Amino acid sequence: MTTLGTPLSATATKVMLLGSGELGKEVLIALQRLGVETIAVDRYDNAPGQQVAHHARTITMSDPAQLKALIETEKPHLVVPEIEAIATPMLEELEAAGAVRVIPTARAARLTMDREGIRRLAAETLGLPTSPYVFCDSLAELQAAIDGKIGYPCIVKPVMSSSGKGQSKIGGPADVKAAWDYAMAGGRVSHGRVIVEGFIDFDYEITQLTVRALGANGQAETHFCEPIGHVQVSGDYVESWQPHPMHPKALEESRRIAKAVSDNLGGQGLFGVELFVKGEQVWFSEVSPRPHDTGMVTLCTQWQNEFELHARAILGLPVSTALKSPGASAVIYGGVDAHGIAFDDVEKALQLPQTDLRLFGKPESFEKRRMGVALAYDADVEQARVRAKQAAALVRPRAA
Ligand SMILES: Nc1ncnc2c1ncn2[C@@H]1O[C@H](COP(=O)(O)OP(=O)(O)OP(=O)(O)O)[C@@H](O)[C@H]1O
Ligand SMILES: [Mg+2]
Repeated sequence: MTTLGTPLSATATKVMLLGSGELGKEVLIALQRLGVETIAVDRYDNAPGQQVAHHARTITMSDPAQLKALIETEKPHLVVPEIEAIATPMLEELEAAGAVRVIPTARAARLTMDREGIRRLAAETLGLPTSPYVFCDSLAELQAAIDGKIGYPCIVKPVMSSSGKGQSKIGGPADVKAAWDYAMAGGRVSHGRVIVEGFIDFDYEITQLTVRALGANGQAETHFCEPIGHVQVSGDYVESWQPHPMHPKALEESRRIAKAVSDNLGGQGLFGVELFVKGEQVWFSEVSPRPHDTGMVTLCTQWQNEFELHARAILGLPVSTALKSPGASAVIYGGVDAHGIAFDDVEKALQLPQTDLRLFGKPESFEKRRMGVALAYDADVEQARVRAKQAAALVRPRAA
C-alpha cells in the first residue's frame, strides 16, 4: 500500500534530493504534483531544484559528517541521489542502520559513483560485453596498458568525472602524455586513477531508460522506454531523440543488458543505461541509477516523462513507459561566463510549431554550461531533430 501525506504537516511524505540541477528540478516538480514534501540539497544556493522545493539546503555532499547531520535533522523517508559526487559510504551506513531508504539503493549509488565499481560489476561479475579496459594509476601504467592490452585508438577518462571532463581520445603514442595530463586536470578528486578503454567503432549509441517499479503483487517489475539516440560532443550530450530505430536483435540485447544491470543494482527507480551499438552487437558503457540527461527528450515524447517515472517508481506507484510522440531535444548552452544572464528571443523559438523549452534558472552561466533545452515533437523524428536544434539556436543567452 502506498499512502501519501500532506506536505508541511505531521503526515508529510518527505523526499530529499541530493543534487538539485536541471534533472533534480524536474523530479522535484513531479513529486510536488503528488503532494510530497521536498528538500532540495545542492552545493550552492539557488540551484534549479531548490527554486521549486519546499526546503533548500546547501552543504558539501561529499562530506560524510555534513551529509549525516542533514539527513538526521530532516528525517526524509527517501533520499534520492541526483549526482555522483556524494559520500556514498555514509549513505550505506545510514541505510544499513534503517535510518533512511536510498534510491534505488545505497549500494547502487556507491557502485556508480566512479567508473571502476560499475565497470567491474558489469564486465567481471555480470559478464556483460564492454570495451576492453584497464585501470591505471600512473603515466607508466597507462603506457603499459595500451602497449600490452588496449592498443590504439583508445580513450582515457578519470575514474571520477562526468560530462566528458578530463576525457580524451588517444590516436597514437604521441598523444599518451597529453591525455594523462588532461585526465589529471579534469578529475573530480585529485587521486590520479584513470580508466583506459579500447575505442569502440559503434554505428550509434543509445540510452535505454529502464524502470524498476512495483507491480500489483508488490514485486519489482522492469519496464523499458523506447530507445533514445543521442550525439555527444567531447563527452557531453548536445542532442537526443526518441525513438531511435534499431535492429530487433540489438534492441533485445540492449534490454537484456539493461535488465541484468538494473536487477543487480536493485531497488526502485529509473536507470539510464548507456549502450554502444554496431549492427546487432551491443556494448554496455555505463549506467546512471537516476534520470539521464539525454532522457530530457521524454519531456515531450512520453505520457510519463523520465522524471515522473522516477518519482512514481520510488513512491511505489505504477508506471507507463508508453510513447506519446516521436521527438527530439537540443541543448542550449550559456555562451557567456556571467551571473544572472538574460535569454532573448524566447518567443521566436516557441513560434516554431510543436516546440517547447526548459530554462533551468541556473544562477551562473558558463560558455559551455547547459542552461536550457529545446524540445520538439513530430511524427518524423528527423523533422523533430531539425526543429529542436532550430529552437535551441533561436534562444540567445547574454550577459545582462
Ligand atoms: N570506449 C569508447 N569507445 C568509443 N566511444 C566512447 C567510449 N567511451 C566513451 N565514448 C564516447 O564518449 C561519450 C562519453 O563517455 P562516458 O559516458 O563514459 O563519459 P561521461 O563523462 O560519464 O559522460 P556523461 O556523464 O555525459 O554520461 C560516450 O557517450 C561516447 O560517445
Ligand atoms: Mg556517459
